[in-house]
Amino acid sequence: MLSDTKDTGGSTVEKNSQVKAHYDALLGRTYTWMMGGASTNFEENRKFFDLHGLRPPTVDAKALDLGCGSGFQAIPLLELGYAVTAIDMSADLLQELKGHKEALARKVSGQSPLPSLTLIEGDILRLSALLPSDALASVDLASTAQVQSLVKNAVSFLKPGGTLILHFRDLTRHLEGTDRFLPCRTDENNIFTCVLEYEEAQETCLDGRDKEDRFVLINDLLYTRPDASAPWTFKKSQYKKLEVSPEKVLKMMQDAGMDTSFHPLAFGVVAVMGRKKP
Ligand SMILES: C[S@@+](CC[C@H](N)C(=O)[O-])C[C@H]1O[C@@H](n2cnc3c(N)ncnc32)[C@H](O)[C@@H]1O
Repeated sequence: MLSDTKDTGGSTVEKNSQVKAHYDALLGRTYTWMMGGASTNFEENRKFFDLHGLRPPTVDAKALDLGCGSGFQAIPLLELGYAVTAIDMSADLLQELKGHKEALARKVSGQSPLPSLTLIEGDILRLSALLPSDALASVDLASTAQVQSLVKNAVSFLKPGGTLILHFRDLTRHLEGTDRFLPCRTDENNIFTCVLEYEEAQETCLDGRDKEDRFVLINDLLYTRPDASAPWTFKKSQYKKLEVSPEKVLKMMQDAGMDTSFHPLAFGVVAVMGRKKP
């Protein structure tokens, strides 16, 4: 998530990928529930932004939310007064975000109007098509080098004083044995479990990956039923995530000219935050 960006322009691009297939098959429709619900997550992000002094510096300030999901950050940013461009490849999650925005607009109607929310269904790995040509060219988060490219390019189109916040799970601290089986969330009609498999580093560089890059195979397993009288259905889907340590990302931000800070959040998720030096 980037705040106070230069004008981004905008068009829609789509890229089929393992991640998109995973969200389309399983996670898109369960993500918000699995994470504990929208209200709880809106509140967490309101508190985070407040604690770290994120405020629109001007009345027309812009924020870009990359991989916005159902809007855990986009909605609090709108409430703060940012015009938000929110990008995700999951149509289900964007649809949900649209609903949250409409609910917020109803809640504040009669008060000052909400800033704009632009939704883009597309692949942030191809942001060069969405942004000015000198911004975020050829970004691909499938390798550490490409995370570095994202950070560098993001910093280049942030305004001085602008903020870059990256949220991710620190997968570099490996779980062992049965601790790799994570009971994510359960209610009377859904049981969501995640199983992590750690891959060995590749002997040779594949698809531009770095030799040192390691990946975790995330297996999401869901038992679900519409109600207590119906039979259970079992759904499963998997995708790979790059292991990258918060220390590495902080160093990348510092090298790109940012003042940084590190914030551990719940369940192994971390936020690394950088402010572009004026
Ligand atoms: C872990 S979720 C985080 C969502 C939200 N930012 C939050 O904190 O709840 C990751 C999101 O990134 C999206 N995503 C992953 N890779 C993407 C890509 N290459 N382009 C666009 N969206 C992507 C997924 O669809 C998903 O909604």
